[in-house]
Amino acid sequence: MWMYPLLLGAVLLAAIFGAIKRRGGGSRNPFLVDSRRPPAPLVTDRDARKKVLKQDNLDAVVIGSGYGGLAAAVLLSKTGKRVLVLEQHGKAGGCCHTFNEKGFEFDVGIHYVGQMDRDSILRMMIDQLTDGQLQWAKMESPFDIIILGGPKDGKRYYLHSGEKEYIEGLKKQFPGEDANIDKYLALVKRTAKRIHHMAIAKMVPLSLVKFLQWTGLLAWISPFFRMASRSVSEVVAECTKNEDLRVVFSYIFPTYGVIPAESSFSLHAVLVDHFLGGGWYPQGGASEIAFHSIPIIEEAGGAVLTKAPVERILVDSEGKAYGVSVKKGQETVNIYAPIVISDAGIFNTYEKLLPNELQVLPEIQKHLSMVHHGVGGLSVFIGLNGSKEELGLEAKNYYIYQQSDLDKAFVSYFNSPRETAPEKIPLLYIASPSAKDPLWEKRYPGKSTLIVLAIAKYEWFEEWKEEKVTRRGMEYESLKNSFVDNIMETILKFYPQIKDRIEYISAGTPLTNSHYIGSPRGEMYGAEHSISRLQADVAAKMRPQTPIRNLYLTGQDAFLGGFPGALHGALVCASAVLRRNLYVDIFWLSRKIEAENTKKSS
Ligand SMILES: Cc1cc2nc3c(=O)[nH]c(=O)nc-3n(C[C@H](O)[C@H](O)[C@H](O)COP(=O)(O)OP(=O)(O)OC[C@H]3O[C@@H](n4cnc5c(N)ncnc54)[C@H](O)[C@@H]3O)c2cc1C
Ligand SMILES: *[C@@H]1O[C@H](CO)[C@@H](O)[C@H](O)[C@H]1NC(C)=O
Repeated sequence: MWMYPLLLGAVLLAAIFGAIKRRGGGSRNPFLVDSRRPPAPLVTDRDARKKVLKQDNLDAVVIGSGYGGLAAAVLLSKTGKRVLVLEQHGKAGGCCHTFNEKGFEFDVGIHYVGQMDRDSILRMMIDQLTDGQLQWAKMESPFDIIILGGPKDGKRYYLHSGEKEYIEGLKKQFPGEDANIDKYLALVKRTAKRIHHMAIAKMVPLSLVKFLQWTGLLAWISPFFRMASRSVSEVVAECTKNEDLRVVFSYIFPTYGVIPAESSFSLHAVLVDHFLGGGWYPQGGASEIAFHSIPIIEEAGGAVLTKAPVERILVDSEGKAYGVSVKKGQETVNIYAPIVISDAGIFNTYEKLLPNELQVLPEIQKHLSMVHHGVGGLSVFIGLNGSKEELGLEAKNYYIYQQSDLDKAFVSYFNSPRETAPEKIPLLYIASPSAKDPLWEKRYPGKSTLIVLAIAKYEWFEEWKEEKVTRRGMEYESLKNSFVDNIMETILKFYPQIKDRIEYISAGTPLTNSHYIGSPRGEMYGAEHSISRLQADVAAKMRPQTPIRNLYLTGQDAFLGGFPGALHGALVCASAVLRRNLYVDIFWLSRKIEAENTKKSS
């Protein structure tokens, strides 16, 4: 009988807490559902028990939660390792994170990815790394539209999805250029098809790469490395005399950030080939990438912590990395692990995170001397009142070029002082992320977004680098606004219908990138993708293994920029850590899946 008053009391208490909950201060009920399940068999495996009971035995710590870091952590987790990922920003994902402002969601660094057809090997890798949870939405065709001249009356050229459509489309738009178009695309395909030579160069002994290069055998075997030292401008000029077609052959260079005169044809070919089938966008937005990666890390006993800036990599007296020290609030905490993986890029890792006495080591300095900082970016985020239908927004990208001599336009822009640079912006990339996402309307009904990207020099903004984000002062704001105003003038000519629909505008400079994605000089794609970076010896040296034992690099600096580049960075990194070739493993899995599919369909 004594139970009744107790229960009554409990009910009363519940009512009080229910009231609190309705005011928004409540918490969740841990007894909402009956959580009993049938007892599982006793786990006797000692390692499996240790993983749960002994929480200090990390197998690896990863610095940075960009896709390079997450994918490396996922790969290790899938082999049962406990991995801790530490991210300086408040949100996981690096370039794949999204942010919300005034009822809009914006993504930072994933606007489109190629080769996401169901049967592509890249798609298969990503499917495996996200347990099949990440879905991709195909963009419309044409997916890329080049506008040469003014935003309203400039000439337009269209790139269609699908190799056949892409080529035929070009031939229709450039009558009389058939042979030149064929020549260029054959060269692109022959070069790009050998991209795996890049991965091989990072996995075989360095001395072998050097030997093959020194004897000239490498150029002979590998069209990829043969074309690596030729510039895009040079190759394109050999393919056609038509000025506009030259622009169309070169237009994609902003996706790796080096002007045609200084970029390697090999990398260019890889990007052109990458998008021949069209473009895809992560369904549900870019944050889906981290959202579906983190649970896999957690399932293996690992974790991803945000607001956890790593300050130092711990290296013992024998020169072996054994952990990191990380800032936790005001304190610094040491975290120990036998493997340290850095997704923070080569500059952060070697110039900021290594102890000072190791930064000056000749081997480290040699690595640093091979690379330069890549270009900075300026992004404008625009939130609009209205659906894509109301505003006429499409799942396409626009590249608006002011003039057809791309090299000249960019050199003149880069050489301008910051006061006049905004008037000379040579290229705007414009897209509507909300129109690309089939699930957007469900998530943000009646709203739309636009993103505009331009290349910008870190030096223009460097003066304010010590100032706190959002508190950089009037002068910084007015410089930033002079870029934004110029950009918006073009945007309103391009989309006059959005004029009274703008609810939100904000912009990010290279300093903003530096703050949120930790890039030292606001780089968009990590270390510069110059011709020298694509040379076999440099490519081979920029491998995950570092001069410091047990310290590895992952992500874009370990392979190439872009989402797929960061993924390959993670694959070569995890291969090095696990001492097995994961490309071979994934190849066998793809064969198995193929066999199962044919069995099913027969
Ligand atoms: C504006 C923009 C547009 C882009 N558009 C595309 C696109 O359309 N398609 C495409 O494929 N690619 C695109 N990219 C490139 C692509 O997003 C990147 O190449 C790729 O995501 C890089 O992944 P990552 O893991 O190597 O590095 P990042 O994503 O840069 O991750 C590095 C992480 O390390 C963290 N970090 C740094 N220092 C520390 C520290 N000391 N402690 C803890 N954490 C630290 C950073 O905060 C960051 O989260 C774009 C990039 C930008 C900037
Ligand atoms: C959005 O536009 C509609 C008209 O299409 C209007 O009724 C509404 O008030 C607008 N919302 C905002 C926040 O401006």
